[in-house]
Amino acid sequence: MENNVKTNEKYISPECIEQMLDIARSIRARFAQRNQHPVATVITYGCQQNENDSERIKGMLAEMGYGFTEDKAESDLILFNTCAVRENAEKKLFGNVGALKHYKQRKPSLKIIVCGCVVGQPHAERELKQKYPFVDLVFDTKSVYRFPLLLQRVLFSDERVFETGMADTVAEGIPVLHAKQSSAFVSVMYGCNNFCSYCIVPYVRGRERSRKPEYVVEEVRKLVENGCRDITLLGQNVNSYGKDLGDIDFTGLLEKLEVIEGDFLLRFMTSHPKDMSDRLIAHIAKSRHMPHHIHLPFQSGNDRILKAMNRGYTKADYLALIERIRTAMPDATLTSDIIVGFPTETYEEFLDTIDVVKKARFDTLFTFLYSKRIGTPAAVMEGQIPDDEKHRRFDELIAVQNEISKQINLSYVGRTVKVLADGTSKTDSSVMSGRTDANKVVDFTAPCDVKGKRCIVRITEAKTWSLFGEFVDFCS
Ligand code: 5AD
Ligand code: SF4
Repeated sequence: MENNVKTNEKYISPECIEQMLDIARSIRARFAQRNQHPVATVITYGCQQNENDSERIKGMLAEMGYGFTEDKAESDLILFNTCAVRENAEKKLFGNVGALKHYKQRKPSLKIIVCGCVVGQPHAERELKQKYPFVDLVFDTKSVYRFPLLLQRVLFSDERVFETGMADTVAEGIPVLHAKQSSAFVSVMYGCNNFCSYCIVPYVRGRERSRKPEYVVEEVRKLVENGCRDITLLGQNVNSYGKDLGDIDFTGLLEKLEVIEGDFLLRFMTSHPKDMSDRLIAHIAKSRHMPHHIHLPFQSGNDRILKAMNRGYTKADYLALIERIRTAMPDATLTSDIIVGFPTETYEEFLDTIDVVKKARFDTLFTFLYSKRIGTPAAVMEGQIPDDEKHRRFDELIAVQNEISKQINLSYVGRTVKVLADGTSKTDSSVMSGRTDANKVVDFTAPCDVKGKRCIVRITEAKTWSLFGEFVDFCS
């Protein structure tokens, strides 16, 4: 069977996907024959791409006859899908996997699986192989579509299976089990060619490859037909979409999606400042589906550090880009990612980052302490910054941003905003929770069940990270 599977082409053939689905159905039939009703626990750490991979893994597990549980003690299969972008996630994974040893002792038939970016790193794969003998299956992001085949080997031959480093491919037609009905992620491309000097992603997710536009359009159209109201297009650098296809770019893809009828929001992440075109900005400004929210990581405000990071733009370029966005969309909300304490960064250079934060006035910032990733150029640079200094800069940055976030949030009090209600508040189950078009979390009181609906909400109170309000009406 395995020899029939073509993996040396960029687009996996429909026959190959059909083979995978056949395997999945035969596993289901086998469980049914034995009157077994297996349940799985899928735990995901990391970015939206990882979430999206887990949705595909869950889709395949459902096809194989698995139900789902969060109770590990009850589970027949526990899968960790883990990120590798920062060292913490990796440490957490090994701690969590270690804790599963006892579950396996109590239930020897339990299958333990580790997948995701983390196992795309040779040292992590080696460690799992040598120090965690109770882990049954390990595969990286490039093998997600081969999951039924890999699991079959684990289930019915009792061998340990490790598969990493397959070709960079695009697989269509895998069943997806979306975590929510009202919102969904849709990957438009995989991999990254940018090789920012601190980042592990190009090594673990491979080179950029785009999905053909017709598949993306079809997936979005179906989601909208099924009631999905908030769709986020995913790619490590969506601005590179289509470079490998030749006749379309990201704006071209958005133009195809623009004509889909229905009341839904279309978001995207992540954009790279060096490739964000004026054509894309103009399209977002006039789109009927796209909120005026842009996530635009800048990582550092200092030109020397940006060069060392291999980012391909300067502080002035970035601020000019923000200016162009604000001119085209005066109501735009901006968010960004920043790395604090990149090797050799001086305190004065860090102050350039603070300067950009003050000038750009982001709604929210995702701030990270630089984390050494084995195999990246920055990991072997001289001048690594001590942890306590990184923490000091981090705290200083957070204090500046918190003040800005609070001021921005306070400006919402008394205004009405559109909110897609997608659940209840984390702290009070009688209070609804949702996101504004600009992706801000709003908790609000409502007199009836509003879950999955777009509502008009009046903001009554603002805190640094959240808004509170009351339901006014449904959006027409
Ligand atoms: N250390 C800290 N942060 C990192 N990121 C990526 N690699 C690293 C690293 N080695 C951050 C960047 C990126 C976000 C997803 O994660 O800010 O935009
Ligand atoms: Fe990593 Fe840079 Fe690619 Fe983003 S653009 S995934 S930071 S290499």
